[in-house]
Amino acid sequence: MITLENYLDSAEVAEDLKELIVLISKQALPIRNAFIENQSYAGTENKSGEVQAELDVWSDEHLINVLKKSSLVKELASEEQPEILKFENAKADYAVVMDPLDGSSLIQVNLCVGTIIGIYDNGRALNRGEDLAAAMYMLYGPMTVLVLTVGKGVYVFAMDGEERYIMLDGPVKMPEGKIYGSGALRKEWTLKHKRFIEEIEEDGGKLRYSGSFVADFHQVLKYGGVYCYPGTDKKPEGKLRLVFEANPIGFIAKQAGGAVSDGGTNLLTVKPEKADHKTPIYVGSAGLISKLESM
Ligand code: AHG
Ligand code: MN
Ligand code: MN
Ligand code: MN
Repeated sequence: MITLENYLDSAEVAEDLKELIVLISKQALPIRNAFIENQSYAGTENKSGEVQAELDVWSDEHLINVLKKSSLVKELASEEQPEILKFENAKADYAVVMDPLDGSSLIQVNLCVGTIIGIYDNGRALNRGEDLAAAMYMLYGPMTVLVLTVGKGVYVFAMDGEERYIMLDGPVKMPEGKIYGSGALRKEWTLKHKRFIEEIEEDGGKLRYSGSFVADFHQVLKYGGVYCYPGTDKKPEGKLRLVFEANPIGFIAKQAGGAVSDGGTNLLTVKPEKADHKTPIYVGSAGLISKLESM
C-alpha cells in the first residue's frame, strides 16, 4: 500500500510543495461534508458571468482560508474571485490556480463533481500551462479520488477509511479511445466541430457527457477519447477557462500521453491574458487531438 506521502517522497518533491499538495488534498473531506448545507444558489455571479452555487462560494472561501493560513502561497487565482489574490505572509514562491467546485450544475442532483488545482513555483498565477510544477484534481464520487502529477507522470489515489490517500494506479497512460463528449448546443456547432464529432461517431464513438468537466475527463483519462467544449459562431471563445480548467487538466492529460488543444494549437503554450481567459478546449487521446488539428 503506497500513500500519497510515500509517493511524494519517492518523487523527490520539495518538502514545502509536498506540504502544499497534502494540505490541498485533505480539503476533499470538508468540501464533501459541505454539500448537504450548500445545495442552492448564492444569488451572486462570478467574473465569467455564471450564477454561483452556494457550494462554489463555500469551497472557494474554505480553500482561500486554508491556503492563506499555510503561508506557502504568494498568489491565488480562483474561478470564483474577481481578482488574483496576493498573500503578503507567504514564505514560499508557490502560486495556485483553482476551480474550487467544477460541475456546479450537478450539485443538486448528486452527480460527480470535483476541484481542479494547478500549482506554479514562480510566485505568479498567470503562466503558461506547460510551466506548472504540479496539477491535481479531487473527484467527489462513490470514492474520493485524487489525480496528481508533479511532472513525473500521473498517479491516481483514493481516500480510505483512515482518511489517507492510497495509490490505485500509476503511472497512467491514456489509451487511444472512443469516449467523446461535447458542450455547446449542437445547432450552434461549427462545421469543423460537427465533422470531428461525426467521424468519432462513425468510428463507433460512445457519448459520455455529464456536465462535469472533471468527471468526464476522468473517463477519458482511463478509457481514451476526447472531451470538447468548442467555440461557436456565437461564442468563439467557448465556455471553459484556460487558467483554472484547461491548463491543470491539460497538463495532466499531457503527462499521461494525451494532449490539449483549442482545435489549432497546444493550449499549454498559450500565455493567459487574464485570469478568466476563456478558450475552446479539446482534451484527450493524442491521436484524436492531432487528427482534429490537421482537419
Ligand atoms: P463550473 O461548474 O466550474 O462552472 O464548470 C462547468 C463546466 C464544466 O465542468 C462542464 O463540462 C461544463 O461547464 C458544462 O457546461 P454545459 O452545462 O454548458 O454543458
Ligand atoms: Mn462556474
Ligand atoms: Mn469548472
Ligand atoms: Mn467551478
